[in-house]
Amino acid sequence: MSNPTPVLPVVSARGVTLKLADGTELIDGMSSWWSALHGYNHPKLNQALSDQSQKMSHVMFGGLTHEPAITLAKRLIDITSDNLQHVFFADSGSVAVEVAIKMALQFWYAQGEHKKTKLLTVNKGYFGDTFGGMAVCDPVNGMHEMFTDVLPQHIFAEAPKSLTEGAWDESYIHDFKQKISENHAQIAAVIIEPMVQNAGGLRFYHAEYLQAVRELCNKYNVLLILDEIATGFGRTGTLFAYEQANIQADILCLGKALTGGYMTLSAVLTSRKVVAGIEADGKGVLMHGPTFMANPLACSVANASIDLLLASPWQQRVKAIESQLARELAECNQLNTVKEVRVKGAIGVVELHEPIDVAWSQKQFTAEGVWLRPFGKLVYVMPPFIIKEQELKKITQAIFKILS
Ligand SMILES: Cc1ncc(COP(=O)(O)O)c(C=O)c1O
Repeated sequence: MSNPTPVLPVVSARGVTLKLADGTELIDGMSSWWSALHGYNHPKLNQALSDQSQKMSHVMFGGLTHEPAITLAKRLIDITSDNLQHVFFADSGSVAVEVAIKMALQFWYAQGEHKKTKLLTVNKGYFGDTFGGMAVCDPVNGMHEMFTDVLPQHIFAEAPKSLTEGAWDESYIHDFKQKISENHAQIAAVIIEPMVQNAGGLRFYHAEYLQAVRELCNKYNVLLILDEIATGFGRTGTLFAYEQANIQADILCLGKALTGGYMTLSAVLTSRKVVAGIEADGKGVLMHGPTFMANPLACSVANASIDLLLASPWQQRVKAIESQLARELAECNQLNTVKEVRVKGAIGVVELHEPIDVAWSQKQFTAEGVWLRPFGKLVYVMPPFIIKEQELKKITQAIFKILS
């Protein structure tokens, strides 16, 4: 807008380092919003992109298909739960959420269930910036409250209790149980971010909660959409966060780290059951078809990124980041500006009592040689998995120093 917070011109990025126009180098603690898990400018990802660009950068995905998309679809089916057998490629995380919602609505509509048009979700969620996603973001803190009057009205249960509020208790699911039991006749699907609520507050919750959500969806004949856009590809310590609750989604959204942070691409996976439901009206089409669906450059770099991730010791790396963040950020607990420190996988969060001034903090962090972008009361770190101990230490020391 006319008076934005200052922005820093980046001229190149390599490994975990961003280089600014004035020569300043910053260690990246953000992975470009959860996506650059291998760091920047990786030779294998560069190669995949350049090889594919010599064949074709794009071709429409209606009536035509291509090897990078076929390979990626097979790969995603292989690495996710057994029930997920179909893949739809879309442009971004938000669009994946739109497509997932559409799949759920079409599933019921095509079977003559015209009343199942609502979604059930939990407070403090975040699902993107398009209208379908905005309608299930936290109604107050979801960054979209100004649009409330024009959004479809869905059903919200209390946010899951945070892990830091204590051990699992059956009462934690009470409100969700009540909402689904009272409204299931109108509910097409539950949509939730598994294990971690991301941009809505960086909150970690109990696996038992997610298990109970799955059981209640089964009991009341409601589909379950899991949004793994932020958590997918190892960030929480397992390849996908839902594995920690040992459950399966009916519809799964992937994005962000899918291409190793190189470009925008998302995927929505679903089961044979959902596809059969959508086909029940005899038309046999999902009503969505973006121009850049399954872009070959993006699919090729995604294939290379998944190969790279699975061939790397990513579990050990995420564990090492987790222990270091827990050890070093714990120091912040002694500061009276700090409400709570929490860590899960390669995500470290320092929650403050008061919102932080973003422009001020950006200047301070930059002067310490690190790149962090806090929001609200949250100062958080989610580094590329290849970060070295000394580099991560520089980030945690900067956080302690600035918050002091
Ligand atoms: C869980 C979740 N879903 C959806 C989105 C939207 O993704 P995108 O920004 O790629 O549209 C985000 C973005 O932060 C997210 O964290």
